[in-house]
Amino acid sequence: MPIPDYVAGLDVGTTKICTVIAQQSARGALDVLGVGLSPSAGLKRGVIVDQQEATEAIAESVARAERMANRSVHGAYVGITGGHIAARNETGRVRVNPSGEVTAADVEKAVQSASDSVPVGREREIIHTIVRDFAIDGQSGIKRPIGMSGHRLDAHVHIVTATASVRQNLQRCVEQIGIKVQRCILEPVATSLAVVTEAERDLGVILIDIGGGTTDIAVFRDGAIYHSAAVPVAGNHLTRDLAHLLHINHEEAEKVKCKFGVAIPQLASADQVIQVAQMGTGEAARVPRQLLGEVIQPRLEEIFLMVRESIEQAGDLDMTAGGVVLTGGASQLWGTDRLASEILRDLPVRYGSPLNLGKLAATVTNPIFSTGVGLALQAASEEAWAGESASPSPLPGLKGLHQWWSQRVRPRLAIWRFWA
Ligand SMILES: Nc1ncnc2c1ncn2[C@@H]1O[C@H](COP(=O)(O)OP(=O)(O)OP(=O)(O)O)[C@@H](O)[C@H]1O
Ligand SMILES: [Mg+2]
Repeated sequence: MPIPDYVAGLDVGTTKICTVIAQQSARGALDVLGVGLSPSAGLKRGVIVDQQEATEAIAESVARAERMANRSVHGAYVGITGGHIAARNETGRVRVNPSGEVTAADVEKAVQSASDSVPVGREREIIHTIVRDFAIDGQSGIKRPIGMSGHRLDAHVHIVTATASVRQNLQRCVEQIGIKVQRCILEPVATSLAVVTEAERDLGVILIDIGGGTTDIAVFRDGAIYHSAAVPVAGNHLTRDLAHLLHINHEEAEKVKCKFGVAIPQLASADQVIQVAQMGTGEAARVPRQLLGEVIQPRLEEIFLMVRESIEQAGDLDMTAGGVVLTGGASQLWGTDRLASEILRDLPVRYGSPLNLGKLAATVTNPIFSTGVGLALQAASEEAWAGESASPSPLPGLKGLHQWWSQRVRPRLAIWRFWA
């Protein structure tokens, strides 16, 4: 049987489920083969609260992508987010082996020692152990320490933990439809792969993904992840605010928000009036467009203040000369970039959508696809083929060694960037 050569990313979002099936092209870019979108169900603020509803919604999204790609998905990289996520930077330190030349075993021990220093208890688990860089005898900034001389090796590691039951429930829903969860990836980590450039990571950059139920954050410095978090306030809160204050139903509020919403009232002209259908009677009421901005602005400000606080708790806003990249469905509100810049100390802000794709790139240009594409990119970088139904043998022969390494060992250690 030929080895399948396509990957799948599954973004189980609060408002939509997005499946992206993709294939590495000969030119190195990722070709999109199929995309499936379905309205989300059974999720609140990024977390599954009704397994049956969520499973059905996931099945629908996957089926749509499979039909478009004309391929079956047996395995996928699945995004995880929510207020239960916590991240911290740790240092793992080991003495280099007596030869004085750093080996893979020394690296593994240093990384393990950093993971061991994070108390997880019974309810939480580590979902990412991402090496930022290494230091040898106090000299930091080393990306590939193997083969270098020294006595003491430090691994600077970004560790992300999640509530174990939340991850298990997500996995259960996906596996109920016959799809193996190859890896759970923190959503902003995946999203950043799709929308942030290497140059921005090197300069230092803040990624903000404003979705429906959560606003996800990833901060990079010196090319590596420095901070990650999820704030449980996002686009759906804006819809709810509009529905309450304008006395309109949820569907009408969503429509009005997406069509006429502004992040700053003054962006709309003072005399522009829109019509909304009143709750119950359905009668048309006239509302100044600036009023939408007056409802939206304080909530968006609250979101950016929470983002700022989260980043400042981990360090500070300096050292992000690459500015801010905004993505996610709710980033499409007119003026969101201006408001973000005002609150994030005048940093430059740009909008981000999936970059550098090959065929069918146009099907995923909207910022709602950033996470799904990022998950597929991560899967492709780890050669995690989505069509494989059987697990690779834990004791592979020579032929399967590379695959076993890249699919099992390298992702688990999450130090792939430094081994490639
Ligand atoms: N044109 C638009 N203008 C304003 N908001 C929009 C627009 N299009 C979509 N949105 C909002 O974006 C949000 C959904 O974004 P997205 O698809 O990124 O979220 P999600 O991935 O489902 O949720 P989460 O990541 O929070 O779990 C919704 O609140 C929706 O109303
Ligand atoms: Mg999302």
